[in-house]
Amino acid sequence: MNKQKQPLILGIETSCDETSAAVVRGGNELLSNVISSQMEVHRKFGGVVPEVASRRHVERITHIVERALDEAGVKLSDLDAVAVTQGPGLVGALLIGVAAAKALSFSAGIPLVPVHHIAGHIYANHLIRPLEFPLVALVVSGGHTELIHMPKHNRYERLGRTRDDAAGEAFDKVARLMNLPYPGGPQIDRLAREGTPRYDLPRAWLEPDSLDFSFSGLKSAVINFLHNAKQRGEDVDHADLAVSFQEAVIDVLTEKSMKAVERTGVNRLLLAGGVSANSGLRERLKHRCEEAGVELWIPPLALCTDNAAMIAAAGTYQFLDGQVAGLDLNADPNLKLV
Ligand code: KG4
Ligand code: ZN
Repeated sequence: MNKQKQPLILGIETSCDETSAAVVRGGNELLSNVISSQMEVHRKFGGVVPEVASRRHVERITHIVERALDEAGVKLSDLDAVAVTQGPGLVGALLIGVAAAKALSFSAGIPLVPVHHIAGHIYANHLIRPLEFPLVALVVSGGHTELIHMPKHNRYERLGRTRDDAAGEAFDKVARLMNLPYPGGPQIDRLAREGTPRYDLPRAWLEPDSLDFSFSGLKSAVINFLHNAKQRGEDVDHADLAVSFQEAVIDVLTEKSMKAVERTGVNRLLLAGGVSANSGLRERLKHRCEEAGVELWIPPLALCTDNAAMIAAAGTYQFLDGQVAGLDLNADPNLKLV
């Protein structure tokens, strides 16, 4: 990107339980990234309560945006555009971000850029090192498990997706069965480090050529396993169960990603989304990619989960492409990337 084309973008993210605003210059210079997590509030309920999430976003959004501008040392009038997560996510939560972004766009007289949440997760990597194309992205979050081919900025082609639960959702549900606190992914990750994968759990490979995923069978297998053990009065080692489950997820994610890379002839694999924080998955992908001579891009832990900097980064390239919205923009909880 040349010097004149270094737009200053405010990003806003409120799709789930993080209220976040960030300022990014030129697509990858992070000036601020303020994240207010509601995790503690939702933990009591064992998962995100949509109504509660919306209310929290309303309470915090103005303050979070002000802090993001302050920390970046910029004024509203300095901005070139405001980028916001349009979807997918919880509709009530998304609406707060979209309404705030519209108000800012109107009052500052700057364009409004609607961003797909998954595009944001992919562009989290761009904040560390400018993306190089073509690439294959494995997107694994609480709501998504997808393999995406990107030939260039703003272009997404889907290679595969989950047919039922997302990987993160499976982590959270299995953690709940094991009475671990929300969100379960990091808890399973931590427990798994102390366990031995001795419990036999299924891997859903689907049709031989398929790059799709399915995790609901694995979740049911864990339910049955726990139920049977209880009926027989047998103790279940939670660390062993955690690592057995995690390995089943990692096996499928890794093998399908390697297949996607091989099939497309793209020698560059990028990891994105909340589950990319998983230490087992990071390790395994590093190992497999090294072995296969594939370049692996992994975002730093701080940028793996939801944040507005990734939305501003993705929004920058949409802004440069003229992908802007009017003030009639609406949140779309089921927004499609492709
Ligand atoms: O991307 P994200 O913050 O929100 C969505 O867009 O969904 O992802 C949240 C998901 C949750 O399911 C959470 O349990 C999972 O990412 N997660 C993890 C880890 N850290 C977060 N899953 C496995 N291992 C982790 N270390
Ligand atoms: Zn996310």
